[in-house]
This record gives sequence, structure tokens and C-alpha cells, in this order.
Amino acid sequence: MTILVTGAAGFIGSHLCRALLQAGEQVVGVDALNDYYDPQLKRARLDSLAQFKKFRFSQVNLAVDGALEQAVSPDDIDVIVNLAAQAGVRYSIDNPRAYSRSNLSGYINILEFARAAKNLKHLVYASSSSVYGEREDGPFRESDIVRKPSSLYAATKISGEMLSQSYVHLYGIPMTGLRFFTVYGAWGRPDMAYWIFTEKILRGEPITLYAAGEMSRDFTYIDDIIEGISAVMKQPPTGDDLHEIYNLGNSTPTPLMDLVQAVEQACGIEAEKIYLPKQMGDVSKTFADVSKAQAAFGYNPRTKIQEGIPHFVNWYRDFYKI
Ligand SMILES: NC(=O)c1ccc[n+]([C@@H]2O[C@H](COP(=O)([O-])OP(=O)(O)OC[C@H]3O[C@@H](n4cnc5c(N)ncnc54)[C@H](O)[C@@H]3O)[C@@H](O)[C@H]2O)c1
Repeated sequence: MTILVTGAAGFIGSHLCRALLQAGEQVVGVDALNDYYDPQLKRARLDSLAQFKKFRFSQVNLAVDGALEQAVSPDDIDVIVNLAAQAGVRYSIDNPRAYSRSNLSGYINILEFARAAKNLKHLVYASSSSVYGEREDGPFRESDIVRKPSSLYAATKISGEMLSQSYVHLYGIPMTGLRFFTVYGAWGRPDMAYWIFTEKILRGEPITLYAAGEMSRDFTYIDDIIEGISAVMKQPPTGDDLHEIYNLGNSTPTPLMDLVQAVEQACGIEAEKIYLPKQMGDVSKTFADVSKAQAAFGYNPRTKIQEGIPHFVNWYRDFYKI
């Protein structure tokens, strides 16, 4: 089986490539290697995959029409996992067009590639917990109506689900959308809170907390996410509706202050804290109901932040030789 992983140099994409290659699969990775965060980190992730003979990588910007087809023949691909995207809620406030390029135009190019791929069995794509918008209640279920995005990022992720549905309906391509909930772990993302806290605390700098008392997130460890993606990939939807959507979260909304404590403990340093109000676009809470994924493919997230954060901090110290 040959699997196309887009966003292969990204956080989740590089972990997925490694897991698939370790399982003996043939993997074609593509990524634009853009500079939303340090491209050196993206290159280092790719370097860590170079040992695998069944891995091929091409630098491709999916937003450029036809660029993917020039690098990869659609007929060679059995499964697509689309993880390439412009991520981040806060960045979308000042850079809206980066989201329309990667998450809308880029995704339509993936759908067109999928339409041309004669041997394709399944297209799996990344959605996000942000589609649920600002909510007081929880847990969030896949059957909940998602019509009130709090950010442009969330709006493009809801759009991705709608674009997918149209291609399922028109061309009968089996598709699965995965709503990830705040993923963290080794080789993580430098724009996310757990990374920024670790970086600042280890440098002895103060950390800034936005709406610290009110915020909670369903932090999900990368290994749990990779197990979920690997399992669902093998199960294209069948029957009348060839489109399924699953939450991949941890089902444990964790106050931001608990995350801070976990990072402080792992670093062995208490942070100086600056408290500021909530930022535009942020939601107060995320909380996944994962029973649908549990029933369908045995999804079973196990990692608590007290275990996962020390793994990340150890990786960070090792990678940056601190
Ligand atoms: N990490 C999380 O907590 C989280 C939560 C919810 C959803 N997601 C989604 O999961 C997916 C993977 O996220 P991640 O955390 O690995 O992010 P990431 O930024 O580390 O990886 C995304 C990769 O996509 C690449 N990319 C962006 N635009 C591209 C384009 N036009 N053409 C080709 N490549 C392009 C980037 O260079 C990057 O390497 C994304 O779709 C993201 O929206 C992530």
C-alpha cells in the first residue's frame, strides 16, 4: 500500500510517517516547508525519516494548481492523509490569506488529486476541535451542529468538512475527517502554549497567560493521535454515506493552570507569570466525546499531561541541548 501524507514535515505528519514506515508501508510525503515556524525544525523532522528506504519526499506547495500532480502520480496512491494546513488560531487574525491558500485552495487541489487517483481507497483529512466554537457545555459530539466558528482558522476547517462532503457526494470517494483536540508531544509546534511555556521557563523568562483562570483544553498526546489515525486509515467508510467524522481528543478538559504546573514540574522551575485577558479568536474550552471513535476503531487515548509533558520537555532539552 502506498500512502500519501501531506504536511509530512509538520508535527503530526512527521510522526505519522514514522509510524507508517515502521509498520513497513510505502510513504510519499509532501510539504511546502513554509516559514510559519522555524523551517529548520521541519527539515530536522524530515532528516529523522531519511533512514527509511520506503520514504520519498517532495517539496510541494499544494496551493499551486497542478504542483502535486507534477511530483506524485495520482494512480500510485492507495490512501491519502491530508495534514497540510495553515494551523493556528491567533495567526489567522493578521494573515487571513495564508488560510485561504493552504486550507481552501490547497485542499481543493487535494480533492482534485483524489478524484484523479484511480486506485484510491480512502482520503483521511485533518479537521479541528475549533469547529465547535465557543461553548459552555460539553463534551462535544460529532453530531453537534457546527455553524459558529470563533476564528477564520475554524471557518476554514468547517469548510474543509463541507468541501469533502461535496466530493463524497459527487464522486463517491470514501473520506474520513478527524477533529484533533490540542495535540502535543515531542517534535511539537513552537506556536503552541506548552512549547512557549517550556522555552520561556527554561530561559528564566516570564510566561504570559491569557484568561488563565477560565481556559481549559482537551490536551491529547501525539502517540494517542497517531494510533487513532493509523487505525481509522484502514477503515474507509462503507454503506450509503461514504463520509465519517470523528473526534480524536483525550476527553479530559484540563485547566490552563494545570498545564503550566506540569511544565514547571517537568522543568523543575517555577515560572514568573503575567496575566492578560483572553485573545481574539480563542475559545474558552474544548472537551471531546470520543465514544464514536472508540466504538468504530477502538480509539483509546491513555496519556495524561503528567506523563506526556515530561516526555515533551525531555525531548526539548535533548533537541536543543539544554
Ligand atoms: N496540532 C494540533 O493541536 C492540531 C489541532 C487540530 C487540528 N490540527 C490540524 O492537524 C494538521 C496537522 O497539524 P500540525 O500540528 O502537524 O501542524 P504543522 O504546522 O506542524 O504541520 C502542517 C504542515 O503543513 C505544511 N503546509 C502548510 N501549507 C501548505 C501548503 N500549501 N502546501 C504544502 N504543505 C503545506 C506546513 O509546512 C507544515 O509542515 C493541520 O491540518 C492542523 O490544522 C492540529
